[in-house]
Amino acid sequence: MKERIHLINQAYDISKPDREKMNGHKALCIWFTGLSGAGKTTLANALERRLHTENIKTFSLDGDNIRCGLSSDLGFSESDRIENLRRIGEVAKLMCEAGLVVTAAFVSPFKKDRQLIRNLLGSNFFEVFVNTPLEVCEQRDVKGLYQKARRGEISNFTGINSPFEQPQNPDLQVNTVNQTIDQLVNTILEAVLPK
Ligand code: PPS
Ligand code: ADP
Ligand code: MG
Repeated sequence: MKERIHLINQAYDISKPDREKMNGHKALCIWFTGLSGAGKTTLANALERRLHTENIKTFSLDGDNIRCGLSSDLGFSESDRIENLRRIGEVAKLMCEAGLVVTAAFVSPFKKDRQLIRNLLGSNFFEVFVNTPLEVCEQRDVKGLYQKARRGEISNFTGINSPFEQPQNPDLQVNTVNQTIDQLVNTILEAVLPK
C-alpha cells in the first residue's frame, strides 16, 4: 500500500457546476459494456457524432485506443483488466469534472469493476449493456480475433476463454440485432437526456 498520509486534497477554484454552466449542459459518462464485436465502438462513435453536432462538449474513450497509450503496459489477465478499468474510471471522472459528456467503450467484463466505476462517478455514470449474443459477435468477427481465439492464438479472450459477467441492472440494454445504429442512438439519447 502506498503512503498517502501526507496528501491533502486541494480545492479547485472552478467547480464542476461552473463548467457545466459555461458548457450549457451537464457532465455525463455513457459507459458501453459488452463482448468484442457487440457494437460498443460503433454506437459510442455514432452517439458522440450526434452530440457533437448538437454543440455538446464530448470526448470518447475506447478500449483499443486506450490500450495503445495509457494502458499499453497491460494485457488481458483479470488483474490487468482491473487496473485498466481503474485507470479509465479515474480518467472518465476527471473528464466529468471538466464538464464533458464522455462516451466509454470497454468490454469491462467484470461486475465488480463496473460497480467500482459506478461508485466513483456517482450520478454521472450511465451504463449501456450492448447485449449482442456471442454467436452474432463471432459471426461478425470484425477484427478476426474470434477466429484467432478459437485457434488458441489468444489467451483470456472474453466469451471464449475468459468470462463476461452480464450486467443484471444496467441503466439501458440495447439489442443490435433487431435495431439499427440510428434507432439505438435515438434510444440512448432519450434515456440520458433530462426529461
Ligand atoms: S477490458 O476487458 O475492458 O479491460 O478490455 P478493453 O480495454 O475494452 O479492450 C478490449 C479490446 O482489446 C482487443 N482484445 C481483446 N478483447 C477481449 N479479450 C482479449 N483477450 C482481447 N485481446 C485483444 C479487442 O479489440 C477489444 O476491443 P473491442 O472493441 O471490444 O473489440
Ligand atoms: P465492439 O466495439 O463492441 O467490439 P464494433 O463497434 O467494433 O464492436 O463492431 C460492431 C460491428 O457490428 C460493426 O461492424 C457494426 O457495423 C456492426 N453492427 C451491425 N448492426 C449494428 C448495430 N445495430 N449497432 C452496432 N453495431 C452494429
Ligand atoms: Mg470497440
